[in-house]
Amino acid sequence: MITIALPKGRIAKESLELFSKVFGEDFAFEDRKLILEQGEFRFLLVRSQDVLTYVHYQAADVGVVGLDVIEEYQLNDAIKLLNLHIGKCKVVIGSEMGKEIDYQKPQIKIATKMPTITYKHFSKKAIPIEIIKLYGSIELAPLVGLCDGIVDIVETGTTMQQNNLKIDEVIMESSAYLIANALSFYQKHKEILDLTRKIGAVIRR
Ligand code: PRP
Repeated sequence: MITIALPKGRIAKESLELFSKVFGEDFAFEDRKLILEQGEFRFLLVRSQDVLTYVHYQAADVGVVGLDVIEEYQLNDAIKLLNLHIGKCKVVIGSEMGKEIDYQKPQIKIATKMPTITYKHFSKKAIPIEIIKLYGSIELAPLVGLCDGIVDIVETGTTMQQNNLKIDEVIMESSAYLIANALSFYQKHKEILDLTRKIGAVIRR
């Protein structure tokens, strides 16, 4: 049995579609259920930020997680197996349309739910910033003067557009990866490699 942590939402759905393609049967969670056992697999539905935790403590053998989440929460011990080419998005710096962030100011305020990526990016450029940690609806912050700019995820770009924001810079491109707990990878080497190979054969690049 391989236990697989999936991040709730579109990536979980697209991951299960990959399993359906590989095994020729439907994989879908029942309404509100957080565990799905099917064949040799047990799937867990968790928050995307929690996938690394489940894999770290070996509550899951493998997981699906975005590169942006790995960067933000520092993947210390999991093994990156495969780029699934789903959940594609960008981490960007954004600000209000028609305005430029004034980097000459002694300290600019950046609102984000990704403080680690933000801190690393701006310190590399030696730009002093104050990070304002938010948990969602980041696009709202510059509109009401909470910050000068944001660091956030862009998928389709619709949320930024609808809120009159523009992309100033792309910090990183992201997509979802299949990862494994190192001990599980050792203990269930054959099964995990077999699964990786099978999924690798059906992903669309
Ligand atoms: C993410 C992100 C943007 C939005 C981007 O938010 O923070 O707000 O998706 O998608 P788009 O480019 O396709 O419009 P999420 O849906 O995770 O909600 P949150 O802001 O509550 O975290």
